This record gives sequence, structure tokens and C-alpha cells, in this order.
Amino acid sequence: CLPVPNIQETVRKNPLKVPERYVRSEEEIEKVLYMPHFSSQVPVIDFGLLSHGNKNELLKLDIACKEWGFFQIVNHGMEIDLMQRLKDVVAEFFDLSIEEKDKYAMPPDDIQGYGHTSVVSEKQILDWCDQLILLVYPTRFRKPQFWPETPEKLKDTIEAYSSEIKRVGEELINSLSLIFGLEEHVLLGLHKEVLQGLRVNYYPPCNTPEQVIGLTLHSDASTVTIVMQDDDVTGLEVRYKGNWVPINPIPNALVVNLGDVIEVLSNGKYKSVEHRAMTNKNKRRTSFVSFLFPRDDAELGPFDHMIDDQNPKMYKEITYGEYLRHTLNRKLEGKTQTDATKIKEC
Ligand code: SIN
Ligand code: FE2
Repeated sequence: CLPVPNIQETVRKNPLKVPERYVRSEEEIEKVLYMPHFSSQVPVIDFGLLSHGNKNELLKLDIACKEWGFFQIVNHGMEIDLMQRLKDVVAEFFDLSIEEKDKYAMPPDDIQGYGHTSVVSEKQILDWCDQLILLVYPTRFRKPQFWPETPEKLKDTIEAYSSEIKRVGEELINSLSLIFGLEEHVLLGLHKEVLQGLRVNYYPPCNTPEQVIGLTLHSDASTVTIVMQDDDVTGLEVRYKGNWVPINPIPNALVVNLGDVIEVLSNGKYKSVEHRAMTNKNKRRTSFVSFLFPRDDAELGPFDHMIDDQNPKMYKEITYGEYLRHTLNRKLEGKTQTDATKIKEC
């Protein structure tokens, strides 16, 4: 990855100017289209009912995964106070001086730390976003040099939040196992071990939000991704039937999206859907993105029972590590990551 300017500093020094390297073509921005005839909100699922195996909620999950690849969960059992504490302490971190934050700067050959990943060429248009990225589980993979010492409570709060996300994420993967038509623990078992990362995205306000993108369109390479977003600012948008549909925050809900691992295992029945984040003129926005993914040597491939005459096999068997290298190479070739072709072309 190439080093990129810090956007929060850029905005602080000159709030009115949008530097050239951030300006997108109108075509790329494609305004959100509101179509009057369909409800433009992702499904909302009651997580309490889901984890008790409620049939109706499982059916809703199945439809959400087929149609959207995105949904929100309520009644997930995470303490609201914990969510708020993480938001507060992270806001304090981003308010520190650039010198202080840069103590945790992401080195060019790493994807952990404070900075921005995904920039591979000088020509690439930049995202209006700074990030703090940490691998949280398993704990033996942590790199303590990237865990901020200030504010003092940050580490413990990330720990407490991530442990709750681990609970929610693993229960969710168990529910996915059920809608796959498998025993509850099969999907988790395939992972060998679940890895979990946290990426905090910080989007400063932008004087001309219609010209920039906070986080460019992509689909996630995870199994599932769980996002806590601000309650009072919209920014996350998901591709749905050719439109960009904003995910309006529901206070204290979590947003879930399926990653490529689920798409491959389900032979494309459940989708890892493209999404992006936009900015706005007056408010900064922060999102807390937790990725759950398998170990590098986990073997992925569509389950046999997901393949039949109507649903021919779409993906090769591949280890997760090989898969990651393949998607990285596509990125280096300047291709955006999109849908199923990722593996079909391996
Ligand atoms: C993402 O990480 O895909 C974007 C999350 C967000 O900013 O809401
Ligand atoms: Fe994402």
C-alpha cells in the first residue's frame, strides 16, 4: 500500500477545499435513486428470536441473505452503554493531535494501525476517510504497537466491545449454518478458528460531499461483517437492484453484511453485496466495522447440496489464504472487487 495524506488534517487546515485527488466523476457517484415501488430499507431481524432458533426469524434471515446480503439486527444483547463508551473513547482518539495518532501509524507493509489501506497506485482517487485497523482475535495475533495508549480506556473498551461482537458473530454464523440446511456448528467448524478484526472508519465532513466518496465500493472478503454506525448520520449505502440504497441508522442496532466466504460456500445463493460509504457536509461520521473470517488454511468451496442442475457449481475449491492473494492481485491490476467472478476466474 502507498502512504496517503491524512484527510482529517487536510480538512482541519482547509475545510473549504476538496483536493484534486479526491474528486470523483459524476458517473462514479451515481446518485441514490429512490424508487417509489419498493421499500428501500434493508430487513431488520430480531437477534434474540434468531438465536433461539425461531422459525419465522430464520426465514427472514434467509430472505435477507438471498435478496440483500445486508440486514440490521436489533435485540442483540450488547449493552447500549458499552456501544456508547466505544464511540466516546474513539472520538477522543480521533480528536488527538496528528503527532499523537501517528505513533500508531500503519507501516507501508502492514494493514494494521492508523492510516488508510487499499491505495495501490498514485493515480487512484482517494477515499475521504482515515482508519484505525486492529486484528483483535485470536489474541496471539495482536500487534500491541498499534493499540493506542491514549485515551487510557481505549484498549479495554475495544476489548469489551469486540468480545461482545465475537458472541454475536458466532451466534450469527450458527444461524447461517441452519439456513444453509446444516447442523448448527458446521460453518463455524469449517473456519478452523475464527479471526476477528476491527476497522474504525472516520469520515470528516466534506464541503462538497457530492464530489467525494468516503469509502469506495467494495464487497467484503470476510465471512460476516458487523457494523456499528452513528445513530444520527447516514453514509453507508448498499447496491440493491441497480440502485444505491442508504442504510438508515436504527438507534443501537448493528448492521450485518455477508462476505465472500458465505457467497462461495452457498454457491452464490447468498450474496456478498457491494457497498460504499458517502460523506456529508456538516457532520463527521464514524463506523466500527468488525470482520469475522476463517484461518488462511481453511478450505472453501460450495457445499455439495447447494449445487444442482439449476445451480451449477460457480466456484472452485480454494483455501482462504489463496483466495485473499487472488483478490489482492486483482486489486493491484486495478480491478474493483465485484461479485462471483472473483473465484470463478481463479
Ligand atoms: C465499510 O466498512 O464497508 C463501510 C462501513 C461504514 O462506513 O458504514
Ligand atoms: Fe465493507
